[in-house]
Amino acid sequence: MYRSETCGELRIADVGREVKLAGWVQRVRKMGGMTFVDLRDRYGLTQLVFNVENDAALTEAANHLGREWVVQVTGKVAERTSKNPNMPTGDIEIIVDSLRVLNASEVPPFTIEDDTDGGDDLRMRFRYLDLRRNAVRKNLELRHRMTMEVRRYLDSKGFLEIETPMLVGSTPEGARDFVVPSRMNPGQFYALPQSPQTLKQLLMVSGMDRYFQIVKCFRDEDLRADRQPEFTQIDCEMSFVEQEDVISTFEGMAKHLFKELRGVELTEPFLRMSWAYAMKYYGSDKPDLRFDMRFVELMDVLKGHGFSVFDNAQYIGGICAKGAAGYTRKQLDALTEYVKRPQIGAKGMVYARVEADGTVKSSVDKFYSQETLQELRKAMNAEPGDLILILSGDDTMKTRKQLCELRLEMGRQLGLRDKNKFACLWVVDFPMFEWSEEEGRLMAMHHPFTHPKDEDIPLLDTDPAAVRADAYDMVVNGVEVGGGSIRIHDSALQAKMFEILGFTPEKAQEQFGFLMNAFKYGAPPHGGLAYGLDRWVSLFAGLDSIRDCIAFPKNNSGRDVMLDAPAALDDKQLDELNLKIDIRESEKH
Ligand code: AMO
Repeated sequence: MYRSETCGELRIADVGREVKLAGWVQRVRKMGGMTFVDLRDRYGLTQLVFNVENDAALTEAANHLGREWVVQVTGKVAERTSKNPNMPTGDIEIIVDSLRVLNASEVPPFTIEDDTDGGDDLRMRFRYLDLRRNAVRKNLELRHRMTMEVRRYLDSKGFLEIETPMLVGSTPEGARDFVVPSRMNPGQFYALPQSPQTLKQLLMVSGMDRYFQIVKCFRDEDLRADRQPEFTQIDCEMSFVEQEDVISTFEGMAKHLFKELRGVELTEPFLRMSWAYAMKYYGSDKPDLRFDMRFVELMDVLKGHGFSVFDNAQYIGGICAKGAAGYTRKQLDALTEYVKRPQIGAKGMVYARVEADGTVKSSVDKFYSQETLQELRKAMNAEPGDLILILSGDDTMKTRKQLCELRLEMGRQLGLRDKNKFACLWVVDFPMFEWSEEEGRLMAMHHPFTHPKDEDIPLLDTDPAAVRADAYDMVVNGVEVGGGSIRIHDSALQAKMFEILGFTPEKAQEQFGFLMNAFKYGAPPHGGLAYGLDRWVSLFAGLDSIRDCIAFPKNNSGRDVMLDAPAALDDKQLDELNLKIDIRESEKH
C-alpha cells in the first residue's frame, strides 16, 4: 500500500496515529535543527516534520529533497504548536520516521504554488505541471462536478446519452471546418463536427425522443477569451416540443446547476428579451444585465444645433453612468482612447457631467445651450453627480456595438460586473437571416435548420430579412452560454430555406440530401439547444478565459504549445494519404 490517507485528509482527531503518505514535495524549509516539508497531492497539503534530534540521517535526507520530488513517508500524526487556520490539515503535522524517494524531479520551470512565477506561455508548455496547482485543478474538479450534475438532471428527465461520429462530412454555413484526409478514399476528406446538429435531428427522426451528449465540437474560427477551436457542448434535442418546452427544460437545468454548483437558488423565471430590444438598448445580443445603463437615443435632443458630428449622424446614443461625474479629464480622455481603438472603432466620445446644482457641463458646450443640455439630462434621466457618455455614427448597428463596448467598460470601471452576481436571461425572436457583406447574400443567423416563426412564414417570399425565427439564446452576465431553436421538420420548407440561402436544388441535395430525405419518412416536430460547457464552468469559476477550465487548451493562435501541434507530416504519412503539400509562397514560415 502506497499510502494510508491522502495529503488533505488528516485532522486533529487523527493525532497519535501512525500513517503513510505519498505525494509531491511542494516546499522544504529548514529552521534550526528542524526541517519542514509541505507534501502535496490533489487533495491538499500536509506538513511533514524532521528533527535532527530524533534522527539526524533522516533529517539530512529531507534537507536534500527538491521541489516536486515524489516521496513516501511514514510517521505519527501530532498536534501543531503553531496551527494554520487557512489549511484544512493546519492543526496537525507528521513526525516522520521513514522517508522513501519514489522519484526525483528536475527543478520545475516555475513554482507550483497558488502564486506562481510562471508566465502564460511557460505554464502552457508545461501544462501537466500547471495542473498540479490548486487554482487550475479546482477548475477541472468543478468541470467534473458539472458534467455529473448535467447527466443526473438530464437522465432524470428521460434523456438518452447517445454518441455521434467525429468523422463526418464538411458542411457549409457557420464557421470553417477542420478537415481530416482519408487514406482509404484518396483525395477525400472528413470534417470534424462543428456541432452534432444534423445528427441529433436524425436521432429525432429515429424516435429517440430525448437525446443529449457531452460532446467535442470543432470550429476553425478566430479565437477569443470565450472561444477555443475545440470546445465542449452539452448538446440536447427533444421531440414533440415547442419553444416553451425547450426553454423550460433547460432553464430548469440552469437552475439545477446554479443550485448544486454555486449554491445559488434562482426562483424567478429568467427574463425574456427580444433580439430587437437587446440590440436597441444594449447594442448586443448578449447583454450583461448585472447593471442597467441602458442606451437612450438622442437624435431628437442633440441633432440640428450646429455640431456637425451629431448633425451628420444616423444614430446618437448615450449612457448614464450613475455617480461618475467625478471622472477626471484624464479618465475621460482614456475612455475616449478606449472607444477609438481599432477593435471598437468609434470616432470620438462626448461627455456631459451633471453638477451638484443640476447644471450640465459638457465637452461640446459651445454648441448647446444649457436649456438643451437640461433636455439631455431629462432624456437620460440623469441626476446630480451622474456622467453622460455619448457616441454617434453613420451606421446605427455599428454605433450601438461601440456604445455596447463603452457600456461594458464603464460597468467594469464602476465595479458593476461582480463575478459573484448572476444575471440570466433568454434572448428570443432572433431574425432568421442576416446579411453577409462578405458573401453578398443572406445567411442563417442561427443555422439553416431553424424554424421560422409561423406568423412570419409568408414573409419568406416577400421580405425574408424581416422573418423572425423560433430561436433562443441563454445569456448569463453577458456571455452566451447556450443557444438553440425549434427545427424545420418538413422537407419542402427545408428546401425553401436552402433556396433563400442561395443553394441551388442540386447543391442543397448534395450537402443536405440525407436530412431532407429523412424528413420524408415521418420526422416529428422537434427542437433543442446546446450549452457551452466550457463557458458554464468558467462562469461558475469566475474565470476570464475558458482556457483555464480546459485541461490542455490551445493558445490564441490555435496551437498546442505542449504537444507542438499542429505540425508538418512526414513524407511517408503524406504518401499513405496520397497528399502532396504545396504551400503558397506567402504562407511559408
Ligand atoms: P451554437 O453555435 O450557438 O449552436 O453553439 C452552442 C453553444 O456552444 C458554445 N460555443 C463555444 N464555446 C467555446 N468555444 C467556441 N468556439 C464556441 N462556439 C460555440 C456557446 C454556444 O452558445 N447546433 C447548435 C445548437 C442548437 O441549435 O441546438 C449550435 O451549435 O456557449
